Amino acid sequence: MTSLPDQDRVLIFDTTLRDGEQSPGATMTHDEKLEIAELLDDMGVDIIEAGFPIASEGDFRAVKEIADRSKNAMICGLARANLKDIDRCAEAVRSAAKPRIHTFIGTSPLHRAIPNLTMDEMADRIHETVTHARNLVDNVQWSPMDATRTEWDYLCRVIEIAIKAGATTINIPDTVGYTAPRESADLIRRLIETVPGADDVVFATHCHNDLGMATANSLAAIEAGARQIECTINGLGERAGNTALEEVVMAMKVRNDIMPYATGIDTRKIMHISRRVAAVSGFNVQFNKAIVGKNAFAHESGIHQDGMLKNKETFEIMRPEDVGLSGTSLPLGKHSGRAALRDKLNNLGYEIGDNQLKDLFVRFKELADRKKEVFDDDIVALMRTGGDKDDHLQLVSMKVVCGTGGPAEATVEMEVEGKDVTEVAEGDGPVDATFKAIRKIHPNAAHLQLYQVHAVTEGTDAQATVSVRLEEDGIIATGDSANTDTVVASAMAYIGALNRLIVRRSKMGEDADTREISYKDVT
Ligand code: KIV
Ligand code: ZN
Repeated sequence: MTSLPDQDRVLIFDTTLRDGEQSPGATMTHDEKLEIAELLDDMGVDIIEAGFPIASEGDFRAVKEIADRSKNAMICGLARANLKDIDRCAEAVRSAAKPRIHTFIGTSPLHRAIPNLTMDEMADRIHETVTHARNLVDNVQWSPMDATRTEWDYLCRVIEIAIKAGATTINIPDTVGYTAPRESADLIRRLIETVPGADDVVFATHCHNDLGMATANSLAAIEAGARQIECTINGLGERAGNTALEEVVMAMKVRNDIMPYATGIDTRKIMHISRRVAAVSGFNVQFNKAIVGKNAFAHESGIHQDGMLKNKETFEIMRPEDVGLSGTSLPLGKHSGRAALRDKLNNLGYEIGDNQLKDLFVRFKELADRKKEVFDDDIVALMRTGGDKDDHLQLVSMKVVCGTGGPAEATVEMEVEGKDVTEVAEGDGPVDATFKAIRKIHPNAAHLQLYQVHAVTEGTDAQATVSVRLEEDGIIATGDSANTDTVVASAMAYIGALNRLIVRRSKMGEDADTREISYKDVT
């Protein structure tokens, strides 16, 4: 933990499940949201923004259940500046030991133009809605959306109104990732100096990464007096994403000499939650991403390796263990037993039940038969894979013929609701032929938004992880799979995404992961 005595405490507000999940294609299932919320709570996040309750029945249920199950973290829901949103949000967060309502309105000239409110009308709306929220819960956060492009005098005026109406946290969003570190610091400093009542509330910073400055802008705001950072795991979020939790937390830990701030985060849990968020959102982490990228602790070049062997500090400013990467870890092999697998999973941060272990062990043995050494990354890939025996579509077998002589041909056998179906298709390469055969078995109009292949480890016998994202009528579903055969992994990822699409479509209306309302719609 980074909690050093006598250091100013910076609150970590995680919005992976709201601003992160709102990113197109990053939709998570109900159970995945509960899992991520639990991991965030266990890691020591102070406030979890669990969703936007008015957006859909599914969002409401998720926020409510996260609130019901919360342990230490404060649970927050988002609400636009109207009484209906706020009432729904209060209903969703109320059962948390520490509930918070986060209400907002766009205050910059561009944002004011959308609801067509005059400055005075908007000021009245802010007073009315924050007062209403404060009558429902003790802890209210208010945000002037697009604050960094709002006129200075007006920004001060509306913040003062929100504080007088009972807001306990004032969040300053850089909604479009426009600000720069010096400006971010100046804005917070001047607001704290100028706005009456500023000393009685916590100022928060909420940065987007459009110009790649979100982490720097957030830290600059902290140095200027903000005491809450809003961020997401892996920097997930729309466009270029939000401030990455792992970056700000590790920056304050590693450079505590110049940024003497404490957080409640157990940094050893970072890597595991990063992997889980990547898996459930379908947004893989870029290899050279700070802190959690595959290469973040890899020292490839001869000079670096030589230096590392002599003294790790030559090129290493933090230890892999500090973020939950086990330093040197022995690979498993085909003689490894169930206990060794469980032990490895625990070291990697997974806690799984006996049934899941049973299923995983079978797949681990299959992999170990094909591959001499099974590395940590292979195990993580296995954890991302695996359908359910109740899935509508199951892959039974497949055979692909491809090469230089003509189109590839795939023969795919699948079980569709218990019935065996086989189809053959030709295509432009083995993956195209395979997907076409699957489409013959399960005709669908889903548009392939993303098809991504990564090698899990080195060598030609490495597993490939494949991610597939499909979109049909506004519903998005992702599938992931890993296999030493790239085409088999592709087929399984595609079938996984189709299965999820089927489930999502059948739930539309009752629980809909699709939202009719976006937090950007203004009322
Ligand atoms: O970026 C933004 O302005 C937001 C608000 C809803 C706080 O996410
Ligand atoms: Zn945002």
